[in-house]
Amino acid sequence: MLRRSRRYPGAPRTAMRFDSAAISPKDAYALLISTIVPRPIAWVSTLDAAGHSNLAPFSFFTGVASRPPLLCLSIGQRRVDGTMQPKDTLANIQATGEFVVNIPSAAQAGAVNQSAAELAPGTSELDALQLPTAPSVHVKPPRVASCRVQLECKLDQIVWLGHPATQALVVGQVLCFHIDDAVWSDALHGVDPLALDPLSRLGGKAFGTTGQAIELDRPDWLASGFSAAVARDKASK
Ligand SMILES: Cc1cc2nc3c(=O)[nH]c(=O)nc-3n(C[C@H](O)[C@H](O)[C@H](O)COP(=O)(O)O)c2cc1C
Repeated sequence: MLRRSRRYPGAPRTAMRFDSAAISPKDAYALLISTIVPRPIAWVSTLDAAGHSNLAPFSFFTGVASRPPLLCLSIGQRRVDGTMQPKDTLANIQATGEFVVNIPSAAQAGAVNQSAAELAPGTSELDALQLPTAPSVHVKPPRVASCRVQLECKLDQIVWLGHPATQALVVGQVLCFHIDDAVWSDALHGVDPLALDPLSRLGGKAFGTTGQAIELDRPDWLASGFSAAVARDKASK
């Protein structure tokens, strides 16, 4: 169990250090998810081989390449009757090679959290939560209609991580981006983050909303010299 280090009144600021070799995987997980924040959430819809739908959230998720567009999710296993089993999302992606990443907004936090409930394989969180769906264009799994961004993906590869190798890093190729007009920005040439207000995951049970954005120009120090650019930046504040 991780504990805060001792402080006494008037003590200088203290800091803690946790060497990974000395802590349990459970504590390492708690530190990872509370230090790497905020994390975007992939709300992943899939179908099993028989066509039953499934929906679950994953926050070990990010984009990793653009030619072609690739993203990745990291999916752990769950213990069922004493043995480790793949989560339904992974089993479905392995069976069909297809999935949709729906990007939830803050208003969908409740449904996102509910969809992490462990339902029996073949039981649909989409049905249980009565979430309307829209058909996809390139893949069979449906999109969550209320999400304002949906990415249709095909499996590129699975990289097994960990010792033992039980964590599946699923790399998917984005075949198609669906973006609701309500969140598009011509000026940004993409999605307006404040209009999308994506839900994010923080440590423990905490979720985050987007709050505010700041815009900064790329530094031009190669052209003008680093210290001159920093001085200009400071002067403009
Ligand atoms: C916000 C949120 C993020 C999550 N991120 C992950 C993750 O990155 N990897 C993972 O294996 N499980 C993650 N989980 C847990 C899965 O959603 C949970 O195990 C779910 O039951 C898997 O569903 P499935 O068996 O239908 O695939 C997360 C749960 C929540 C609520």
